Amino acid sequence: MRALLLAGVILTACGPSAIPQATAGDVARAQARWPDSSEQQLNQGRRAYLVHCGGCHSAVPPARFGASAWQGYVERMAGKAKLADPDKDLVIRYLQIAARPDSAAEAH
Ligand code: HEC
Repeated sequence: MRALLLAGVILTACGPSAIPQATAGDVARAQARWPDSSEQQLNQGRRAYLVHCGGCHSAVPPARFGASAWQGYVERMAGKAKLADPDKDLVIRYLQIAARPDSAAEAH
């Protein structure tokens, strides 16, 4: 019981898991939208996100915003972040898949 409680605390703490690796479920959702998606490609987007978007401020956890908000943030910051295609496209894919569901984002 104590171990379970502890696990809950660790999961909700801010750590590297706030920028999660792609899971099999993520890949399936990505492929529904972009048929050429793969786990390797989503994680390439994750790495590019950490490299380009974690310099000025720490990389914002994908779950903080919904998918459509992320598209806007990446477009707005891409110039400053020196992030160009194809990496930019991969970062958008990674963030949109790891994002908070849009319905929850609208609810605020
Ligand atoms: C050159 C520095 C710089 C880089 C590189 C950068 N940002 Fe930012 N970012 C900022 C600044 C400054 C702010 C706060 C002011 C603003 O919102 O414009 C900010 C704010 C944000 C916010 C809003 C956070 C909040 O809680 O409201 C998000 C999301 C964000 N950045 C995402 C990104 C993404 C995605 C990238 C990579 C494409 C990126 N940033 C790269 C400087 C940077």
